[in-house]
Amino acid sequence: MLRGLFILLCLCLGTWSTAQTKGEPEKSIEQGPLENRVKTLASIQPGLGTVMHEMGYRFTNIYWAANGGNWGLAQYQLKELLEAQEVGEITRPQHAPMLKANEKTYLAPLAQAIEKQDINQFNHRFSAAVNGCNACHTALGYGFILFKVPKLPKQEFLDFSLKTDPKR
Ligand code: HEC
Repeated sequence: MLRGLFILLCLCLGTWSTAQTKGEPEKSIEQGPLENRVKTLASIQPGLGTVMHEMGYRFTNIYWAANGGNWGLAQYQLKELLEAQEVGEITRPQHAPMLKANEKTYLAPLAQAIEKQDINQFNHRFSAAVNGCNACHTALGYGFILFKVPKLPKQEFLDFSLKTDPKR
């Protein structure tokens, strides 16, 4: 146990001293000049890879919630999806215009279908939105990421068939 701690300490000191000799500022959120700490914090914020993981999860839930009649959950998931997307817009500003365009063209109309609790319109707009998501993947060189209308709910622990209304 003590030996393990000692080795860990040596490793940390070793990394620290190489960073110092290379003249790189120490990557710490607790020590050093404020600017470096902010930069370190910025460097560990979720990029599109992480944000998309959440978007895929929530998008799947939106579909199942609406189709189960849990419109309140569908609305909530879409709101949370857009909040996750906003993180991506801030951490990867170069992709913000495409994310915003996708939101305006596909996700805002989808939100309206949820508010109206119109399942036909919802399913139609959901399919259109799937194409919008995938168009961006292809445009950015990620054509191998093809989101499909999910055949199975991602989370069995959410009750998609609870009948609820969206908030007005
Ligand atoms: C800005 C264009 C853009 C839009 C719009 C977009 N994506 Fe993505 N998506 C990406 C990029 C880029 C990646 C690869 C991220 C990476 O690895 O850095 C990705 C990856 C993904 C992944 C794979 C995540 C993983 O690691 O498992 C999923 C799922 C996904 N997107 C779903 C969606 C869904 C659903 C939508 C629409 C609601 C959407 N995306 C809209 C650009 C976009």
